[in-house]
Amino acid sequence: MLPPLRVGVAGLGTVGLSVLRLLDRRSAALAALTGRPVAVVAVSARDRAKDRGFDLQRYIWFDDPAELAASPEIDLFVELIGGAEGPARAAVEAALGAGKSVVTANKALLANYGMTLAKRAEDKGVALAFEAAVAGGIPIVKTLREALAGNAVDRVYGILNGTCNYILTRMETEALSFAQCLAEAQRLGYAEADPSFDIGGQDTAYKLAILTSLAFGTMIDPEAIAIEGIESISLADIDAAAELGYRIKLLGVANRTPAGIEQRVHPTMVPRSSAIAQVMGVTNAVSIDADAVHELTLIGPGAGGDATASAVVADIADIAKGQRLPPFGLPVAALAPLQRAPIQMHEGGYYIRLSVYDRPGAAAAIATRMAGYNISLESIVQRRRPGDEAKHAAAVPVILITHATNEKSIHQALEEVVADGFIAEKPQVIRIERE
Ligand code: HSE
Repeated sequence: MLPPLRVGVAGLGTVGLSVLRLLDRRSAALAALTGRPVAVVAVSARDRAKDRGFDLQRYIWFDDPAELAASPEIDLFVELIGGAEGPARAAVEAALGAGKSVVTANKALLANYGMTLAKRAEDKGVALAFEAAVAGGIPIVKTLREALAGNAVDRVYGILNGTCNYILTRMETEALSFAQCLAEAQRLGYAEADPSFDIGGQDTAYKLAILTSLAFGTMIDPEAIAIEGIESISLADIDAAAELGYRIKLLGVANRTPAGIEQRVHPTMVPRSSAIAQVMGVTNAVSIDADAVHELTLIGPGAGGDATASAVVADIADIAKGQRLPPFGLPVAALAPLQRAPIQMHEGGYYIRLSVYDRPGAAAAIATRMAGYNISLESIVQRRRPGDEAKHAAAVPVILITHATNEKSIHQALEEVVADGFIAEKPQVIRIERE
């Protein structure tokens, strides 16, 4: 048997401790699978004195993760600190600089510096592995990079943030407000330290940036992603979606268009019968449309200690076996620059909720403005608010579903609708994603 693979782990939060436990539990199996023992020999975290309910005595302790990363005591550095800058970045750079393989769960670091880090790993002949950075326990990185080599991918999309899916699920199933559900997600520990990272869509966008590169063989470009969060979703939208045969999900979507690759994160109406619509709570899902396999959906836990540790340990096992694949499938020099399709050119159906003053001519004016931009309506529903019968001039919800059109036409038509003065509030617009 080969000598042990000596591992250093930086970051001893929920995931870090789960990795230590899992490596212990699977020690014999991993040695058999990889042909060598895998042994954590050193750790680093912010506070040595903190009670973690875990005996760290047997590991060498480093206060500075970058020092651990470059230490001759280890062969492989596992970064579970998080954050695109600061200690995480310094430590990963130090490890690669010292010629050590790296396993990381850090989506922000990879989305921002993935190309530079991958190039450095290639130059040093070491591995940079990040299965845990996208959708936690779902093996989507390996699927895109290795298992779908026989396919050209047209679209990859998914529910990549458990916090948002939890909030949208509870709003729908219990008719709770957005704020109530967010507070509950925070209490249960699903949300990031700054929840705006989850609900504003940035967490999903970082994960999507990585998936886009793997799916399309392109350079990562997080700036090319159009991002909208779920803050504006109200119970009125959730209810309307249910009535119209849809469910609202925060999706990250990357698809090939004639203009290039479109990358977008936004609340989305998905058909209620679709696989992705069935994914509830903190669960994640990723769907891939590709020419040979047609459609593939992977569903599983996107966060949490053991699920994320499962992905980290899989990467460690690959490295113990001696696997050194280019991190993004192709060598960095062979990745194509990302040709960005702007969101203004997006084509698809739209859900529009308007708060319309109930006056003669209002609906006709709206329909005329839509027709002026060649927007064909699949349905138009005006609702009566309970108790509003007497208030003729009160604003009532009007919901439009359009046939396929484009983003620019929708915005221009709605600008004119607003200018006509029949609207009491900013229109709510939610893109519909085809199956
Ligand atoms: N806050 C993230 C989520 C954790 O809710 O999915 C995993 O990135």
